[in-house]
Amino acid sequence: MKPPSAGCWALSSALLLCSAPVRNDILTGHIVTGLEECGTRPLMDETATGSRIVGGHDAQPGAWPWQVSLQVYQFGVGYHHICGGSLVSNSSVLTAAHCTKKWMDPDFWRAVIGLNRLYRYQSDIVMSRVSSIMIHSSYNVYSYEHDIAVFKLIKYIPYNEHIQPICLPNTSLVLTNETLCYISGWGSSREQGKPKYILQEAQVDIISLHICNRYDWYGGAISWNMLCAGSESGDVDSCQGDSGGPLMCYFPDVSKYYLIGITSFGVGCGLPKRPGIYVRTSHYKSWIESCISSQKENTADIPFFLFFLIMGQVTLHLVE
Ligand code: ARG
Repeated sequence: MKPPSAGCWALSSALLLCSAPVRNDILTGHIVTGLEECGTRPLMDETATGSRIVGGHDAQPGAWPWQVSLQVYQFGVGYHHICGGSLVSNSSVLTAAHCTKKWMDPDFWRAVIGLNRLYRYQSDIVMSRVSSIMIHSSYNVYSYEHDIAVFKLIKYIPYNEHIQPICLPNTSLVLTNETLCYISGWGSSREQGKPKYILQEAQVDIISLHICNRYDWYGGAISWNMLCAGSESGDVDSCQGDSGGPLMCYFPDVSKYYLIGITSFGVGCGLPKRPGIYVRTSHYKSWIESCISSQKENTADIPFFLFFLIMGQVTLHLVE
């Protein structure tokens, strides 16, 4: 049987795999932007940015309009925050594959968009259940290689001042020493801590793989599909609960934010020589786009008996 187009196919109603090849391009060259609406913050004055943030601090409402809280339902507890995510289209959220570890079924999940204070649901936020989860087919639970997943939402999410998608980096994007990059999330501020109530943001430095892979740093465990970011001293970092959320950089020539990384893992939180590790999204642009454009009607929602009925018909046909 031919898998559905766009490189995404259904494994079961709960799990979709996207099979588009991973491009190994380098962050060099020029930005080629589409005309699509992305990466802008209607409620923020971009000319005011530039001051350095040390450690994390409270983000203003509307500061990161693509930030999503991915929550899981548990009996007796209700929904609670598990991971961050980034809105990349009206119905797709990009996150880390490891977030789905205990909850592979989309029915467990909901996405909350336009949120600043966790569990404070005001009129400008939108919640949606999840129709399917697409995990990179080469995701490796041990090495965290290809720690990337797309959650397709049941609802169409309209954009407003509090809700915007972030731009995906094209094959080539120049990150200079002047590029301002940030992380955001409701993750804890220490390793075993609780999630933060107000969305936190921090400015980070991108640390070269050369430094990050030194024997007394990560000792070669960081691949070319990953990025290291934080600060050399370790006082700026992501932590538990930030996973799946954005590492984003501002490009003043186009006045847009691009999703450079997805929060993936780290040894401890905020330790010197152990910066946060992020999925290098520029290597996955075609994979992400094939997931965004894949129709969930493909096979994901066809009930099993119907699937077998069709398969039976096809086999009969072949035998004839
Ligand atoms: N794996 C963590 C999570 O699930 C993210 C950890 C990031 N750690 C770090 N030191 N930057 O939320």
